[in-house]
Amino acid sequence: MKCLWGGHFPLIILLYLLGDVTSQVNPGVCRYPLGMSGGQIQDEDISASSQWSESTAARYGRLDFEEGDGAWCPEITVEPDSLKEFLQIDLRSLHFITLVGTQGRHAGGIGNEFAQMYKIKYSRDGSRWISWRNRQGKQVIEGNRNAYDIVLKDLEPPIIARFVRFMPVSDHSMNVCMRVELYGCEWLDGLVSYNAPAGEQMSLEGQPVHLNDSVYDGAVIYSMTEGLGQLTDGMCGLDDFTHSHVYNVWPGYDYVGWTNESFPNGYVEIMFEFDRTRNFTTMKVHCNNMFMKHVKAFRQVVCYFRSEADWEATPLSFSPVVDNVNLSARFVTISLANHMASAIKCQFYFAEAWMMFSEITFQSDTAMYNTTLAPPKTGSSPPTSTQPGDDPTHKIDDSNTRILIVCLVAIILILVAIIVIILWRQVWQKMLEKSETFAYSHNNPTSSSAPSEQESSSTYEHIFPLGPDYQEPSRLIRMLPEFSHTSEDAALTSTAVTASKAPTATVAQDGVPHYAEADIVNLQGVTGGNTYAVPALTMDLLSGKDVAVEEFPRKLLTFKEKLGEGQFGEVHLCEAEGMKEFIDEDFSFNISDNHPVLVAVKMLRADANKNARNDFLKEIKIMSRLKDPNIIRLLAVCICSDPLCMITEYMENGDLNQFLSRHEPEGQIALISNVTTVGYSDLRYMATQIASGMRYLSSLNFVHRDLATRNCLVGKNYTIKIADFGMSRNLYSGDYYRIQGRAVLPIRWMSWESILLGKFTTASDVWAFGVTLWETLTFCKEQPYSQLTDEQVIENTGEFFRDQKRQIYLPQPVLCPDSLYKIMLCCWRRNTKERPSFQEIHRVLLESQA
Ligand SMILES: *[C@@H]1O[C@H](CO)[C@@H](O)[C@H](O)[C@H]1NC(C)=O
Ligand SMILES: *[C@@H]1O[C@H](CO)[C@@H](O)[C@H](O)[C@H]1NC(C)=O
Ligand SMILES: *[C@@H]1O[C@H](CO)[C@@H](O)[C@H](O)[C@H]1NC(C)=O
Ligand SMILES: *[C@@H]1O[C@H](CO)[C@@H](O)[C@H](O)[C@H]1NC(C)=O
Ligand SMILES: *[C@@H]1O[C@H](CO)[C@@H](O)[C@H](O)[C@H]1NC(C)=O
Repeated sequence: MKCLWGGHFPLIILLYLLGDVTSQVNPGVCRYPLGMSGGQIQDEDISASSQWSESTAARYGRLDFEEGDGAWCPEITVEPDSLKEFLQIDLRSLHFITLVGTQGRHAGGIGNEFAQMYKIKYSRDGSRWISWRNRQGKQVIEGNRNAYDIVLKDLEPPIIARFVRFMPVSDHSMNVCMRVELYGCEWLDGLVSYNAPAGEQMSLEGQPVHLNDSVYDGAVIYSMTEGLGQLTDGMCGLDDFTHSHVYNVWPGYDYVGWTNESFPNGYVEIMFEFDRTRNFTTMKVHCNNMFMKHVKAFRQVVCYFRSEADWEATPLSFSPVVDNVNLSARFVTISLANHMASAIKCQFYFAEAWMMFSEITFQSDTAMYNTTLAPPKTGSSPPTSTQPGDDPTHKIDDSNTRILIVCLVAIILILVAIIVIILWRQVWQKMLEKSETFAYSHNNPTSSSAPSEQESSSTYEHIFPLGPDYQEPSRLIRMLPEFSHTSEDAALTSTAVTASKAPTATVAQDGVPHYAEADIVNLQGVTGGNTYAVPALTMDLLSGKDVAVEEFPRKLLTFKEKLGEGQFGEVHLCEAEGMKEFIDEDFSFNISDNHPVLVAVKMLRADANKNARNDFLKEIKIMSRLKDPNIIRLLAVCICSDPLCMITEYMENGDLNQFLSRHEPEGQIALISNVTTVGYSDLRYMATQIASGMRYLSSLNFVHRDLATRNCLVGKNYTIKIADFGMSRNLYSGDYYRIQGRAVLPIRWMSWESILLGKFTTASDVWAFGVTLWETLTFCKEQPYSQLTDEQVIENTGEFFRDQKRQIYLPQPVLCPDSLYKIMLCCWRRNTKERPSFQEIHRVLLESQA
């Protein structure tokens, strides 16, 4: 059943049929969304201290809404210790509020503002504001971790209020946006405050029992004034007053108690004030009756009523039967005989040395509380437990009726079960159909992650198969069974409905985010190739240094052909003369003197903007770090004048994809058709070199992000060097999935977490290596998953994520021995930690060669 609450299901209506009403509020049931997301709360009842713009006004602060710019955002950044900003909701009447939900500004991926913490203030009359505290006295509530998840928090104690303010709090200056919802029900008691003598302290066998009203929200000096507290928190005390429902509190927590020693008149007077004049039927007082510990319910109560300004002359008096037998705590019901009043003053007479109350409720007019479960919108299923205490208002005496109801219930349950099955199927179907676009926020690899865990996240407009509704990534994850949250014992504890178990792309950002910060970072560098993701630490080290390569005289380059192009530049194949003089001695560049060599020249167009220039210079610095026999090396640069160039190695046989396409495996067909062949051992040798180059890259914590045969160059004797300009080449545009004309992604080579979460790590390079190995073994005769469309490839990624054995793996190539296919399958393991390292892959390939 649990899953049902995640959606908006009509069968809730069926459950209503089973509903019941009761005369006092039940916090376990009183958890209805009060109308921020549902729209019952009008725009004019939502206000705020300030707004960033008209499109982030208070009325956009509705949970789960995407209107306007996606949330309420205050005008200025939230500073530590300043509580100036708030979002205020006027519920128009008193409500019992048990739960709050918050969410940040996601706005289809553009937004990334949320409140990590917040406080709540509330008011019953609009003038006296009270700061909410939990039962431990803490005011700050943990809020959101990202811009899209809804986080629900139980309010313990619950609030009785008409006005509620959400006040974002931060420990550093930051932009905050919020969407909120309140959950609860109308406060039918209409009680605004009770005034009573302060609760006292009992000494029981030498131990203190504190009978004060610990959550009273009015003033407490000698007496309690103008507040509500434990007598209205919906929580009845246990039979033994020294114990409590609440964890980790002092003895006597649930009760407010007094001793006859302090009240010479023999009674305790409590005054109740109401929101308006009401027609009262009953008052119920929940009393302790542990007579052997000198606690009893009251002997008599005398109540006075005030309707307009004056107290009625004749009071109402009631004497319950003093119970010397039953130790149970109980509700004592007092008939108030349809008195009209806006205030009631009652004198409770001691029957023993002590008198202890835990709840007092009022029934007036004809209003009754529902006990039907609320249909929560978000995910936590409210507990169904009902309060201890009787409900005399709605008893079913007729046994025929009872049988009828039992039958109805049975029929309805069967119907419900059928509907559940149907809906469940539909939900799954929906998830498998259609693509949706969403985006991730961008985080620079700034946080100094552990060297072995280096990763970078890129932003790109994002695709995932889902229904027509807009879906955030985490919402999606939540719908997947392996991430459905399990903590359902939610009655008294905080329930955070987040996909905290799921890996999410967003990381709390340092620095100040800006509105509309929608920088779509793609993998592409300025000249069209992919850029390596580099640990922040390395970048810092590089930033100080001058480029460690020589300036090369431009005139010694001879253009041969254009290899590819990007937004701000091109990649040319050139011949360079006299290159030997310009390169490091430690680099054995096996060329005979004065013989021109083939080089690839990445060239920035002269009209490129400043950012592009900076990116290009950064790329030079990164490339200059790479010194490995299996990685294309930066040979020289031309940065003294425009256009800026970087000159890298090139290999005479071109890239591995084209190379293998021109060749055939050894065998009959090759003999007949007379094409050149490549043996299996050569394929394995080339794969080993790729693994070796990647091992080097990963040792520097560089992430390639576009490993594929098109990015491996082939030299003499099957030597391989890994390059990075495959993405710039028109030839391979079919290998990339273009998103809104901006970012291109090699989805057929990408791991599920790169596609779904924007996470690029060495482990995702390992995944791409598996695909590269597969290409190699199939002689690049077909694209990976050639039978699938791009959308289907992305759907398949979802299956990898869900891991329900429905994912499609690339098949074992004909030439490929089991041992090699096993490596591939290891590379495509769902869990990144279970994938082998390049070191291991290299070792296994090397050993299989021997
Ligand atoms: C009872 O349930 C209805 C239906 O959702 C709701 O509108 C109403 O506010 C509830 N009443 C109370 C007192 O909670
Ligand atoms: C109630 O008594 C407890 C225990 O002495 C104390 O910690 C708490 O502050 C008191 N609360 C109020 C509101 O007086
Ligand atoms: C109060 O309610 C009762 C029962 O609904 C009704 O009979 C009585 O007339 C009401 N009293 C007033 C003053 O309206
Ligand atoms: C004692 O009172 C409680 C609450 O009113 C009731 O449920 C229980 O049955 C009573 N026990 C006895 C022995 O009468
Ligand atoms: C308080 O109640 C106890 C028990 O009923 C009684 O013995 C005692 O005299 C009372 N004290 C006062 C001051 O009334």
